[in-house]
Amino acid sequence: MKNIRIWGGRPLDGTVYIQGSKNAALPVMAAAVLHKGMTVLHDCPKIADVFFMEKILSHLGAKTCWKDHFGHLGHSLYLDCSDLRATDIPDEYASRMRCSIILLGALLGRFGQGAIAPPGGCVIGKRPIDLHLSMLRALGTHIEEHPKVLRACAADLDGELYGARIRFAKQSVGATEHGMIAAVLAKGTTYLENCAKEPEVVWLAQALNGMGASVTGAGTDQIRIEGVEALHDSAFQVPPDRIVAGTYLCAAAATRGKICIENPPLSEMSAFLGVYGKMGGQYDVIGGKLIADASGACGPITRLETDVYPGFSTDLQSPVMAVLALARGKSHIRENIFEDRFRVAEDLVRMGAHIRINGRDAYIDGTERLYGCRVTAQELRGGAALILAGLAAEGETTVDDFHLVERGYEQIQEDIRSLGGRILVEGE
Ligand code: EPZ
Repeated sequence: MKNIRIWGGRPLDGTVYIQGSKNAALPVMAAAVLHKGMTVLHDCPKIADVFFMEKILSHLGAKTCWKDHFGHLGHSLYLDCSDLRATDIPDEYASRMRCSIILLGALLGRFGQGAIAPPGGCVIGKRPIDLHLSMLRALGTHIEEHPKVLRACAADLDGELYGARIRFAKQSVGATEHGMIAAVLAKGTTYLENCAKEPEVVWLAQALNGMGASVTGAGTDQIRIEGVEALHDSAFQVPPDRIVAGTYLCAAAATRGKICIENPPLSEMSAFLGVYGKMGGQYDVIGGKLIADASGACGPITRLETDVYPGFSTDLQSPVMAVLALARGKSHIRENIFEDRFRVAEDLVRMGAHIRINGRDAYIDGTERLYGCRVTAQELRGGAALILAGLAAEGETTVDDFHLVERGYEQIQEDIRSLGGRILVEGE
């Protein structure tokens, strides 16, 4: 197993380029199944979850290849879905990556049928799929739910899905994206209501329209999808990852450093930048670059609540917890999205943090310093938070199960080094 070793206690100082967004790329890769031809993703992040989605598409019969251009302009992923031959996604795949469920809607749109193992929960919460299944049924899908497989087919003998008006019981990024994908080739018009407004939903609409779909309203709570007959070859530019950018700003804050982010997705970071400012972090935007001075980012946050977009992202909750562990005062974080997203606290406490968890509330009493020790990543963002804590801590920190961090961060060790951090990946 891979682990990452960090020698902390020094302010970060350097420049970093932000990778393509994991949560923008994955749904576009699933949408490629809809088209009997080529879909290209430029600036696609080379991370474990993308490689895994690529493996699923290959299992279905897609031909995939990467073309790297010079430097950061690289990472173009070519997905040729002309000759897909399977419509079943085996358990070994579905259970490892939650967002594979949206492939079901793509398979139904393309073939009128599909099967996938029900994606399990994960350490951050139960992760149910009731909203996904009720949406597919509303579009005219018959679904058999077995313990080990969900088998779905178009209820109509012609194998088509039919447009419908669907109101989601709660805002769900994945279910919104799933509904957009499933409705693209359906007969007639689909109205999705109470939709998630995350930027990744807007990027997916842009990618679908680039493929020849007709999607309007993304980014609002109502999205309209006019079914079309066919799609065409397209190329999508994956935007910078707003969660990775926020993670690195947290690294600057935890170490009281000064960093430059070359390509920040600023318009998507307002809630986070508001919290960063409340902690005492400062920044300027010069020529599109974000120049951050986090030398004074030591203020506590009396109450921070995670929320759906444009609220504060649940994905940055753990990285911010690592920063608040070193704040001068008491902070309170309320996690409103997932039931169990405070797992990282136990390892931060082992590093010297004073954190008390009570259900969805975390109470943090900032301390003078953290001490390096051996800790274990339990999930993606918690693992990233441990790396930040290691950069701030005195002495050496080892983070085991680093592969969980590689699910969403491409070469984080290179990025941290470019910011002046001392870090080394070990083992396989
Ligand atoms: C997406 O997950 C992201 N993943 C998550 O990022 C992110 O944390 C989450 O949205 C919230 O912003 C990807 O985009 C690949 P949801 P998703 O459906 O779609 C409940 C990361 O770290 N719900 O918006 O699975 C659910 O339990 C990952 O990059 C139902 O009740 O999240 C949760 O409480 C982690 N029924 C809430 O909705 C359903 O059918 C929001 O989940 C579906 C969801």
